[in-house]
Amino acid sequence: MLMRHCRSRDIQILDVGCGTGIVGEHLHANGFRRFDGTDPSLEMMQHARARSYENLLQLIPDQPLPVSDSEYDATLCVGVFTHGHLGPEGFSELIRVTKPNGLICFTVNEGVWDNEGFANAIEQHSLAGEWEVLEMIKQDYMVNEGIQAWYVAVKVLG
Ligand SMILES: C[S@@+](CC[C@H](N)C(=O)[O-])C[C@H]1O[C@@H](n2cnc3c(N)ncnc32)[C@H](O)[C@@H]1O
Repeated sequence: MLMRHCRSRDIQILDVGCGTGIVGEHLHANGFRRFDGTDPSLEMMQHARARSYENLLQLIPDQPLPVSDSEYDATLCVGVFTHGHLGPEGFSELIRVTKPNGLICFTVNEGVWDNEGFANAIEQHSLAGEWEVLEMIKQDYMVNEGIQAWYVAVKVLG
């Protein structure tokens, strides 16, 4: 989804909730070189060190992300909007750290989509003129468990 919507591989990317860095491995394999990761777990980020991240930063849940406003061309958040992790209140920080006209791509586990109000929150950010939805599809996610997720790409507006 990132590759469908970004114009260049030479962009600065933040991977929020990077965990052990599986997303970074895919970014590197697809030609991206400038990406940072952030996660609450230092232990998980130890594994991400071998996966080409330029910087790995610890975040504190419910606090602002440890990066400046409008720092990134693209922000990714994979596997974090799920049971017991982060709710739609997390969208504001993804928007804050992404440049105007930048891209945010995230997944939402189907099991929290309705009961945590994700569709409504996405709509509210659109109505507020903060982002424009580029793509929103439901597809396979945790394949062995038969669980799907929503995959969403939005463009941050100025
Ligand atoms: C299922 S893992 C996904 C890791 C990685 N993105 C991937 O796709 O392999 C969920 C990650 O979210 C992190 N996490 C939990 N609460 C978070 C929060 N409030 N903000 C950001 N990340 C969080 C966890 O530490 C964990 O690394």
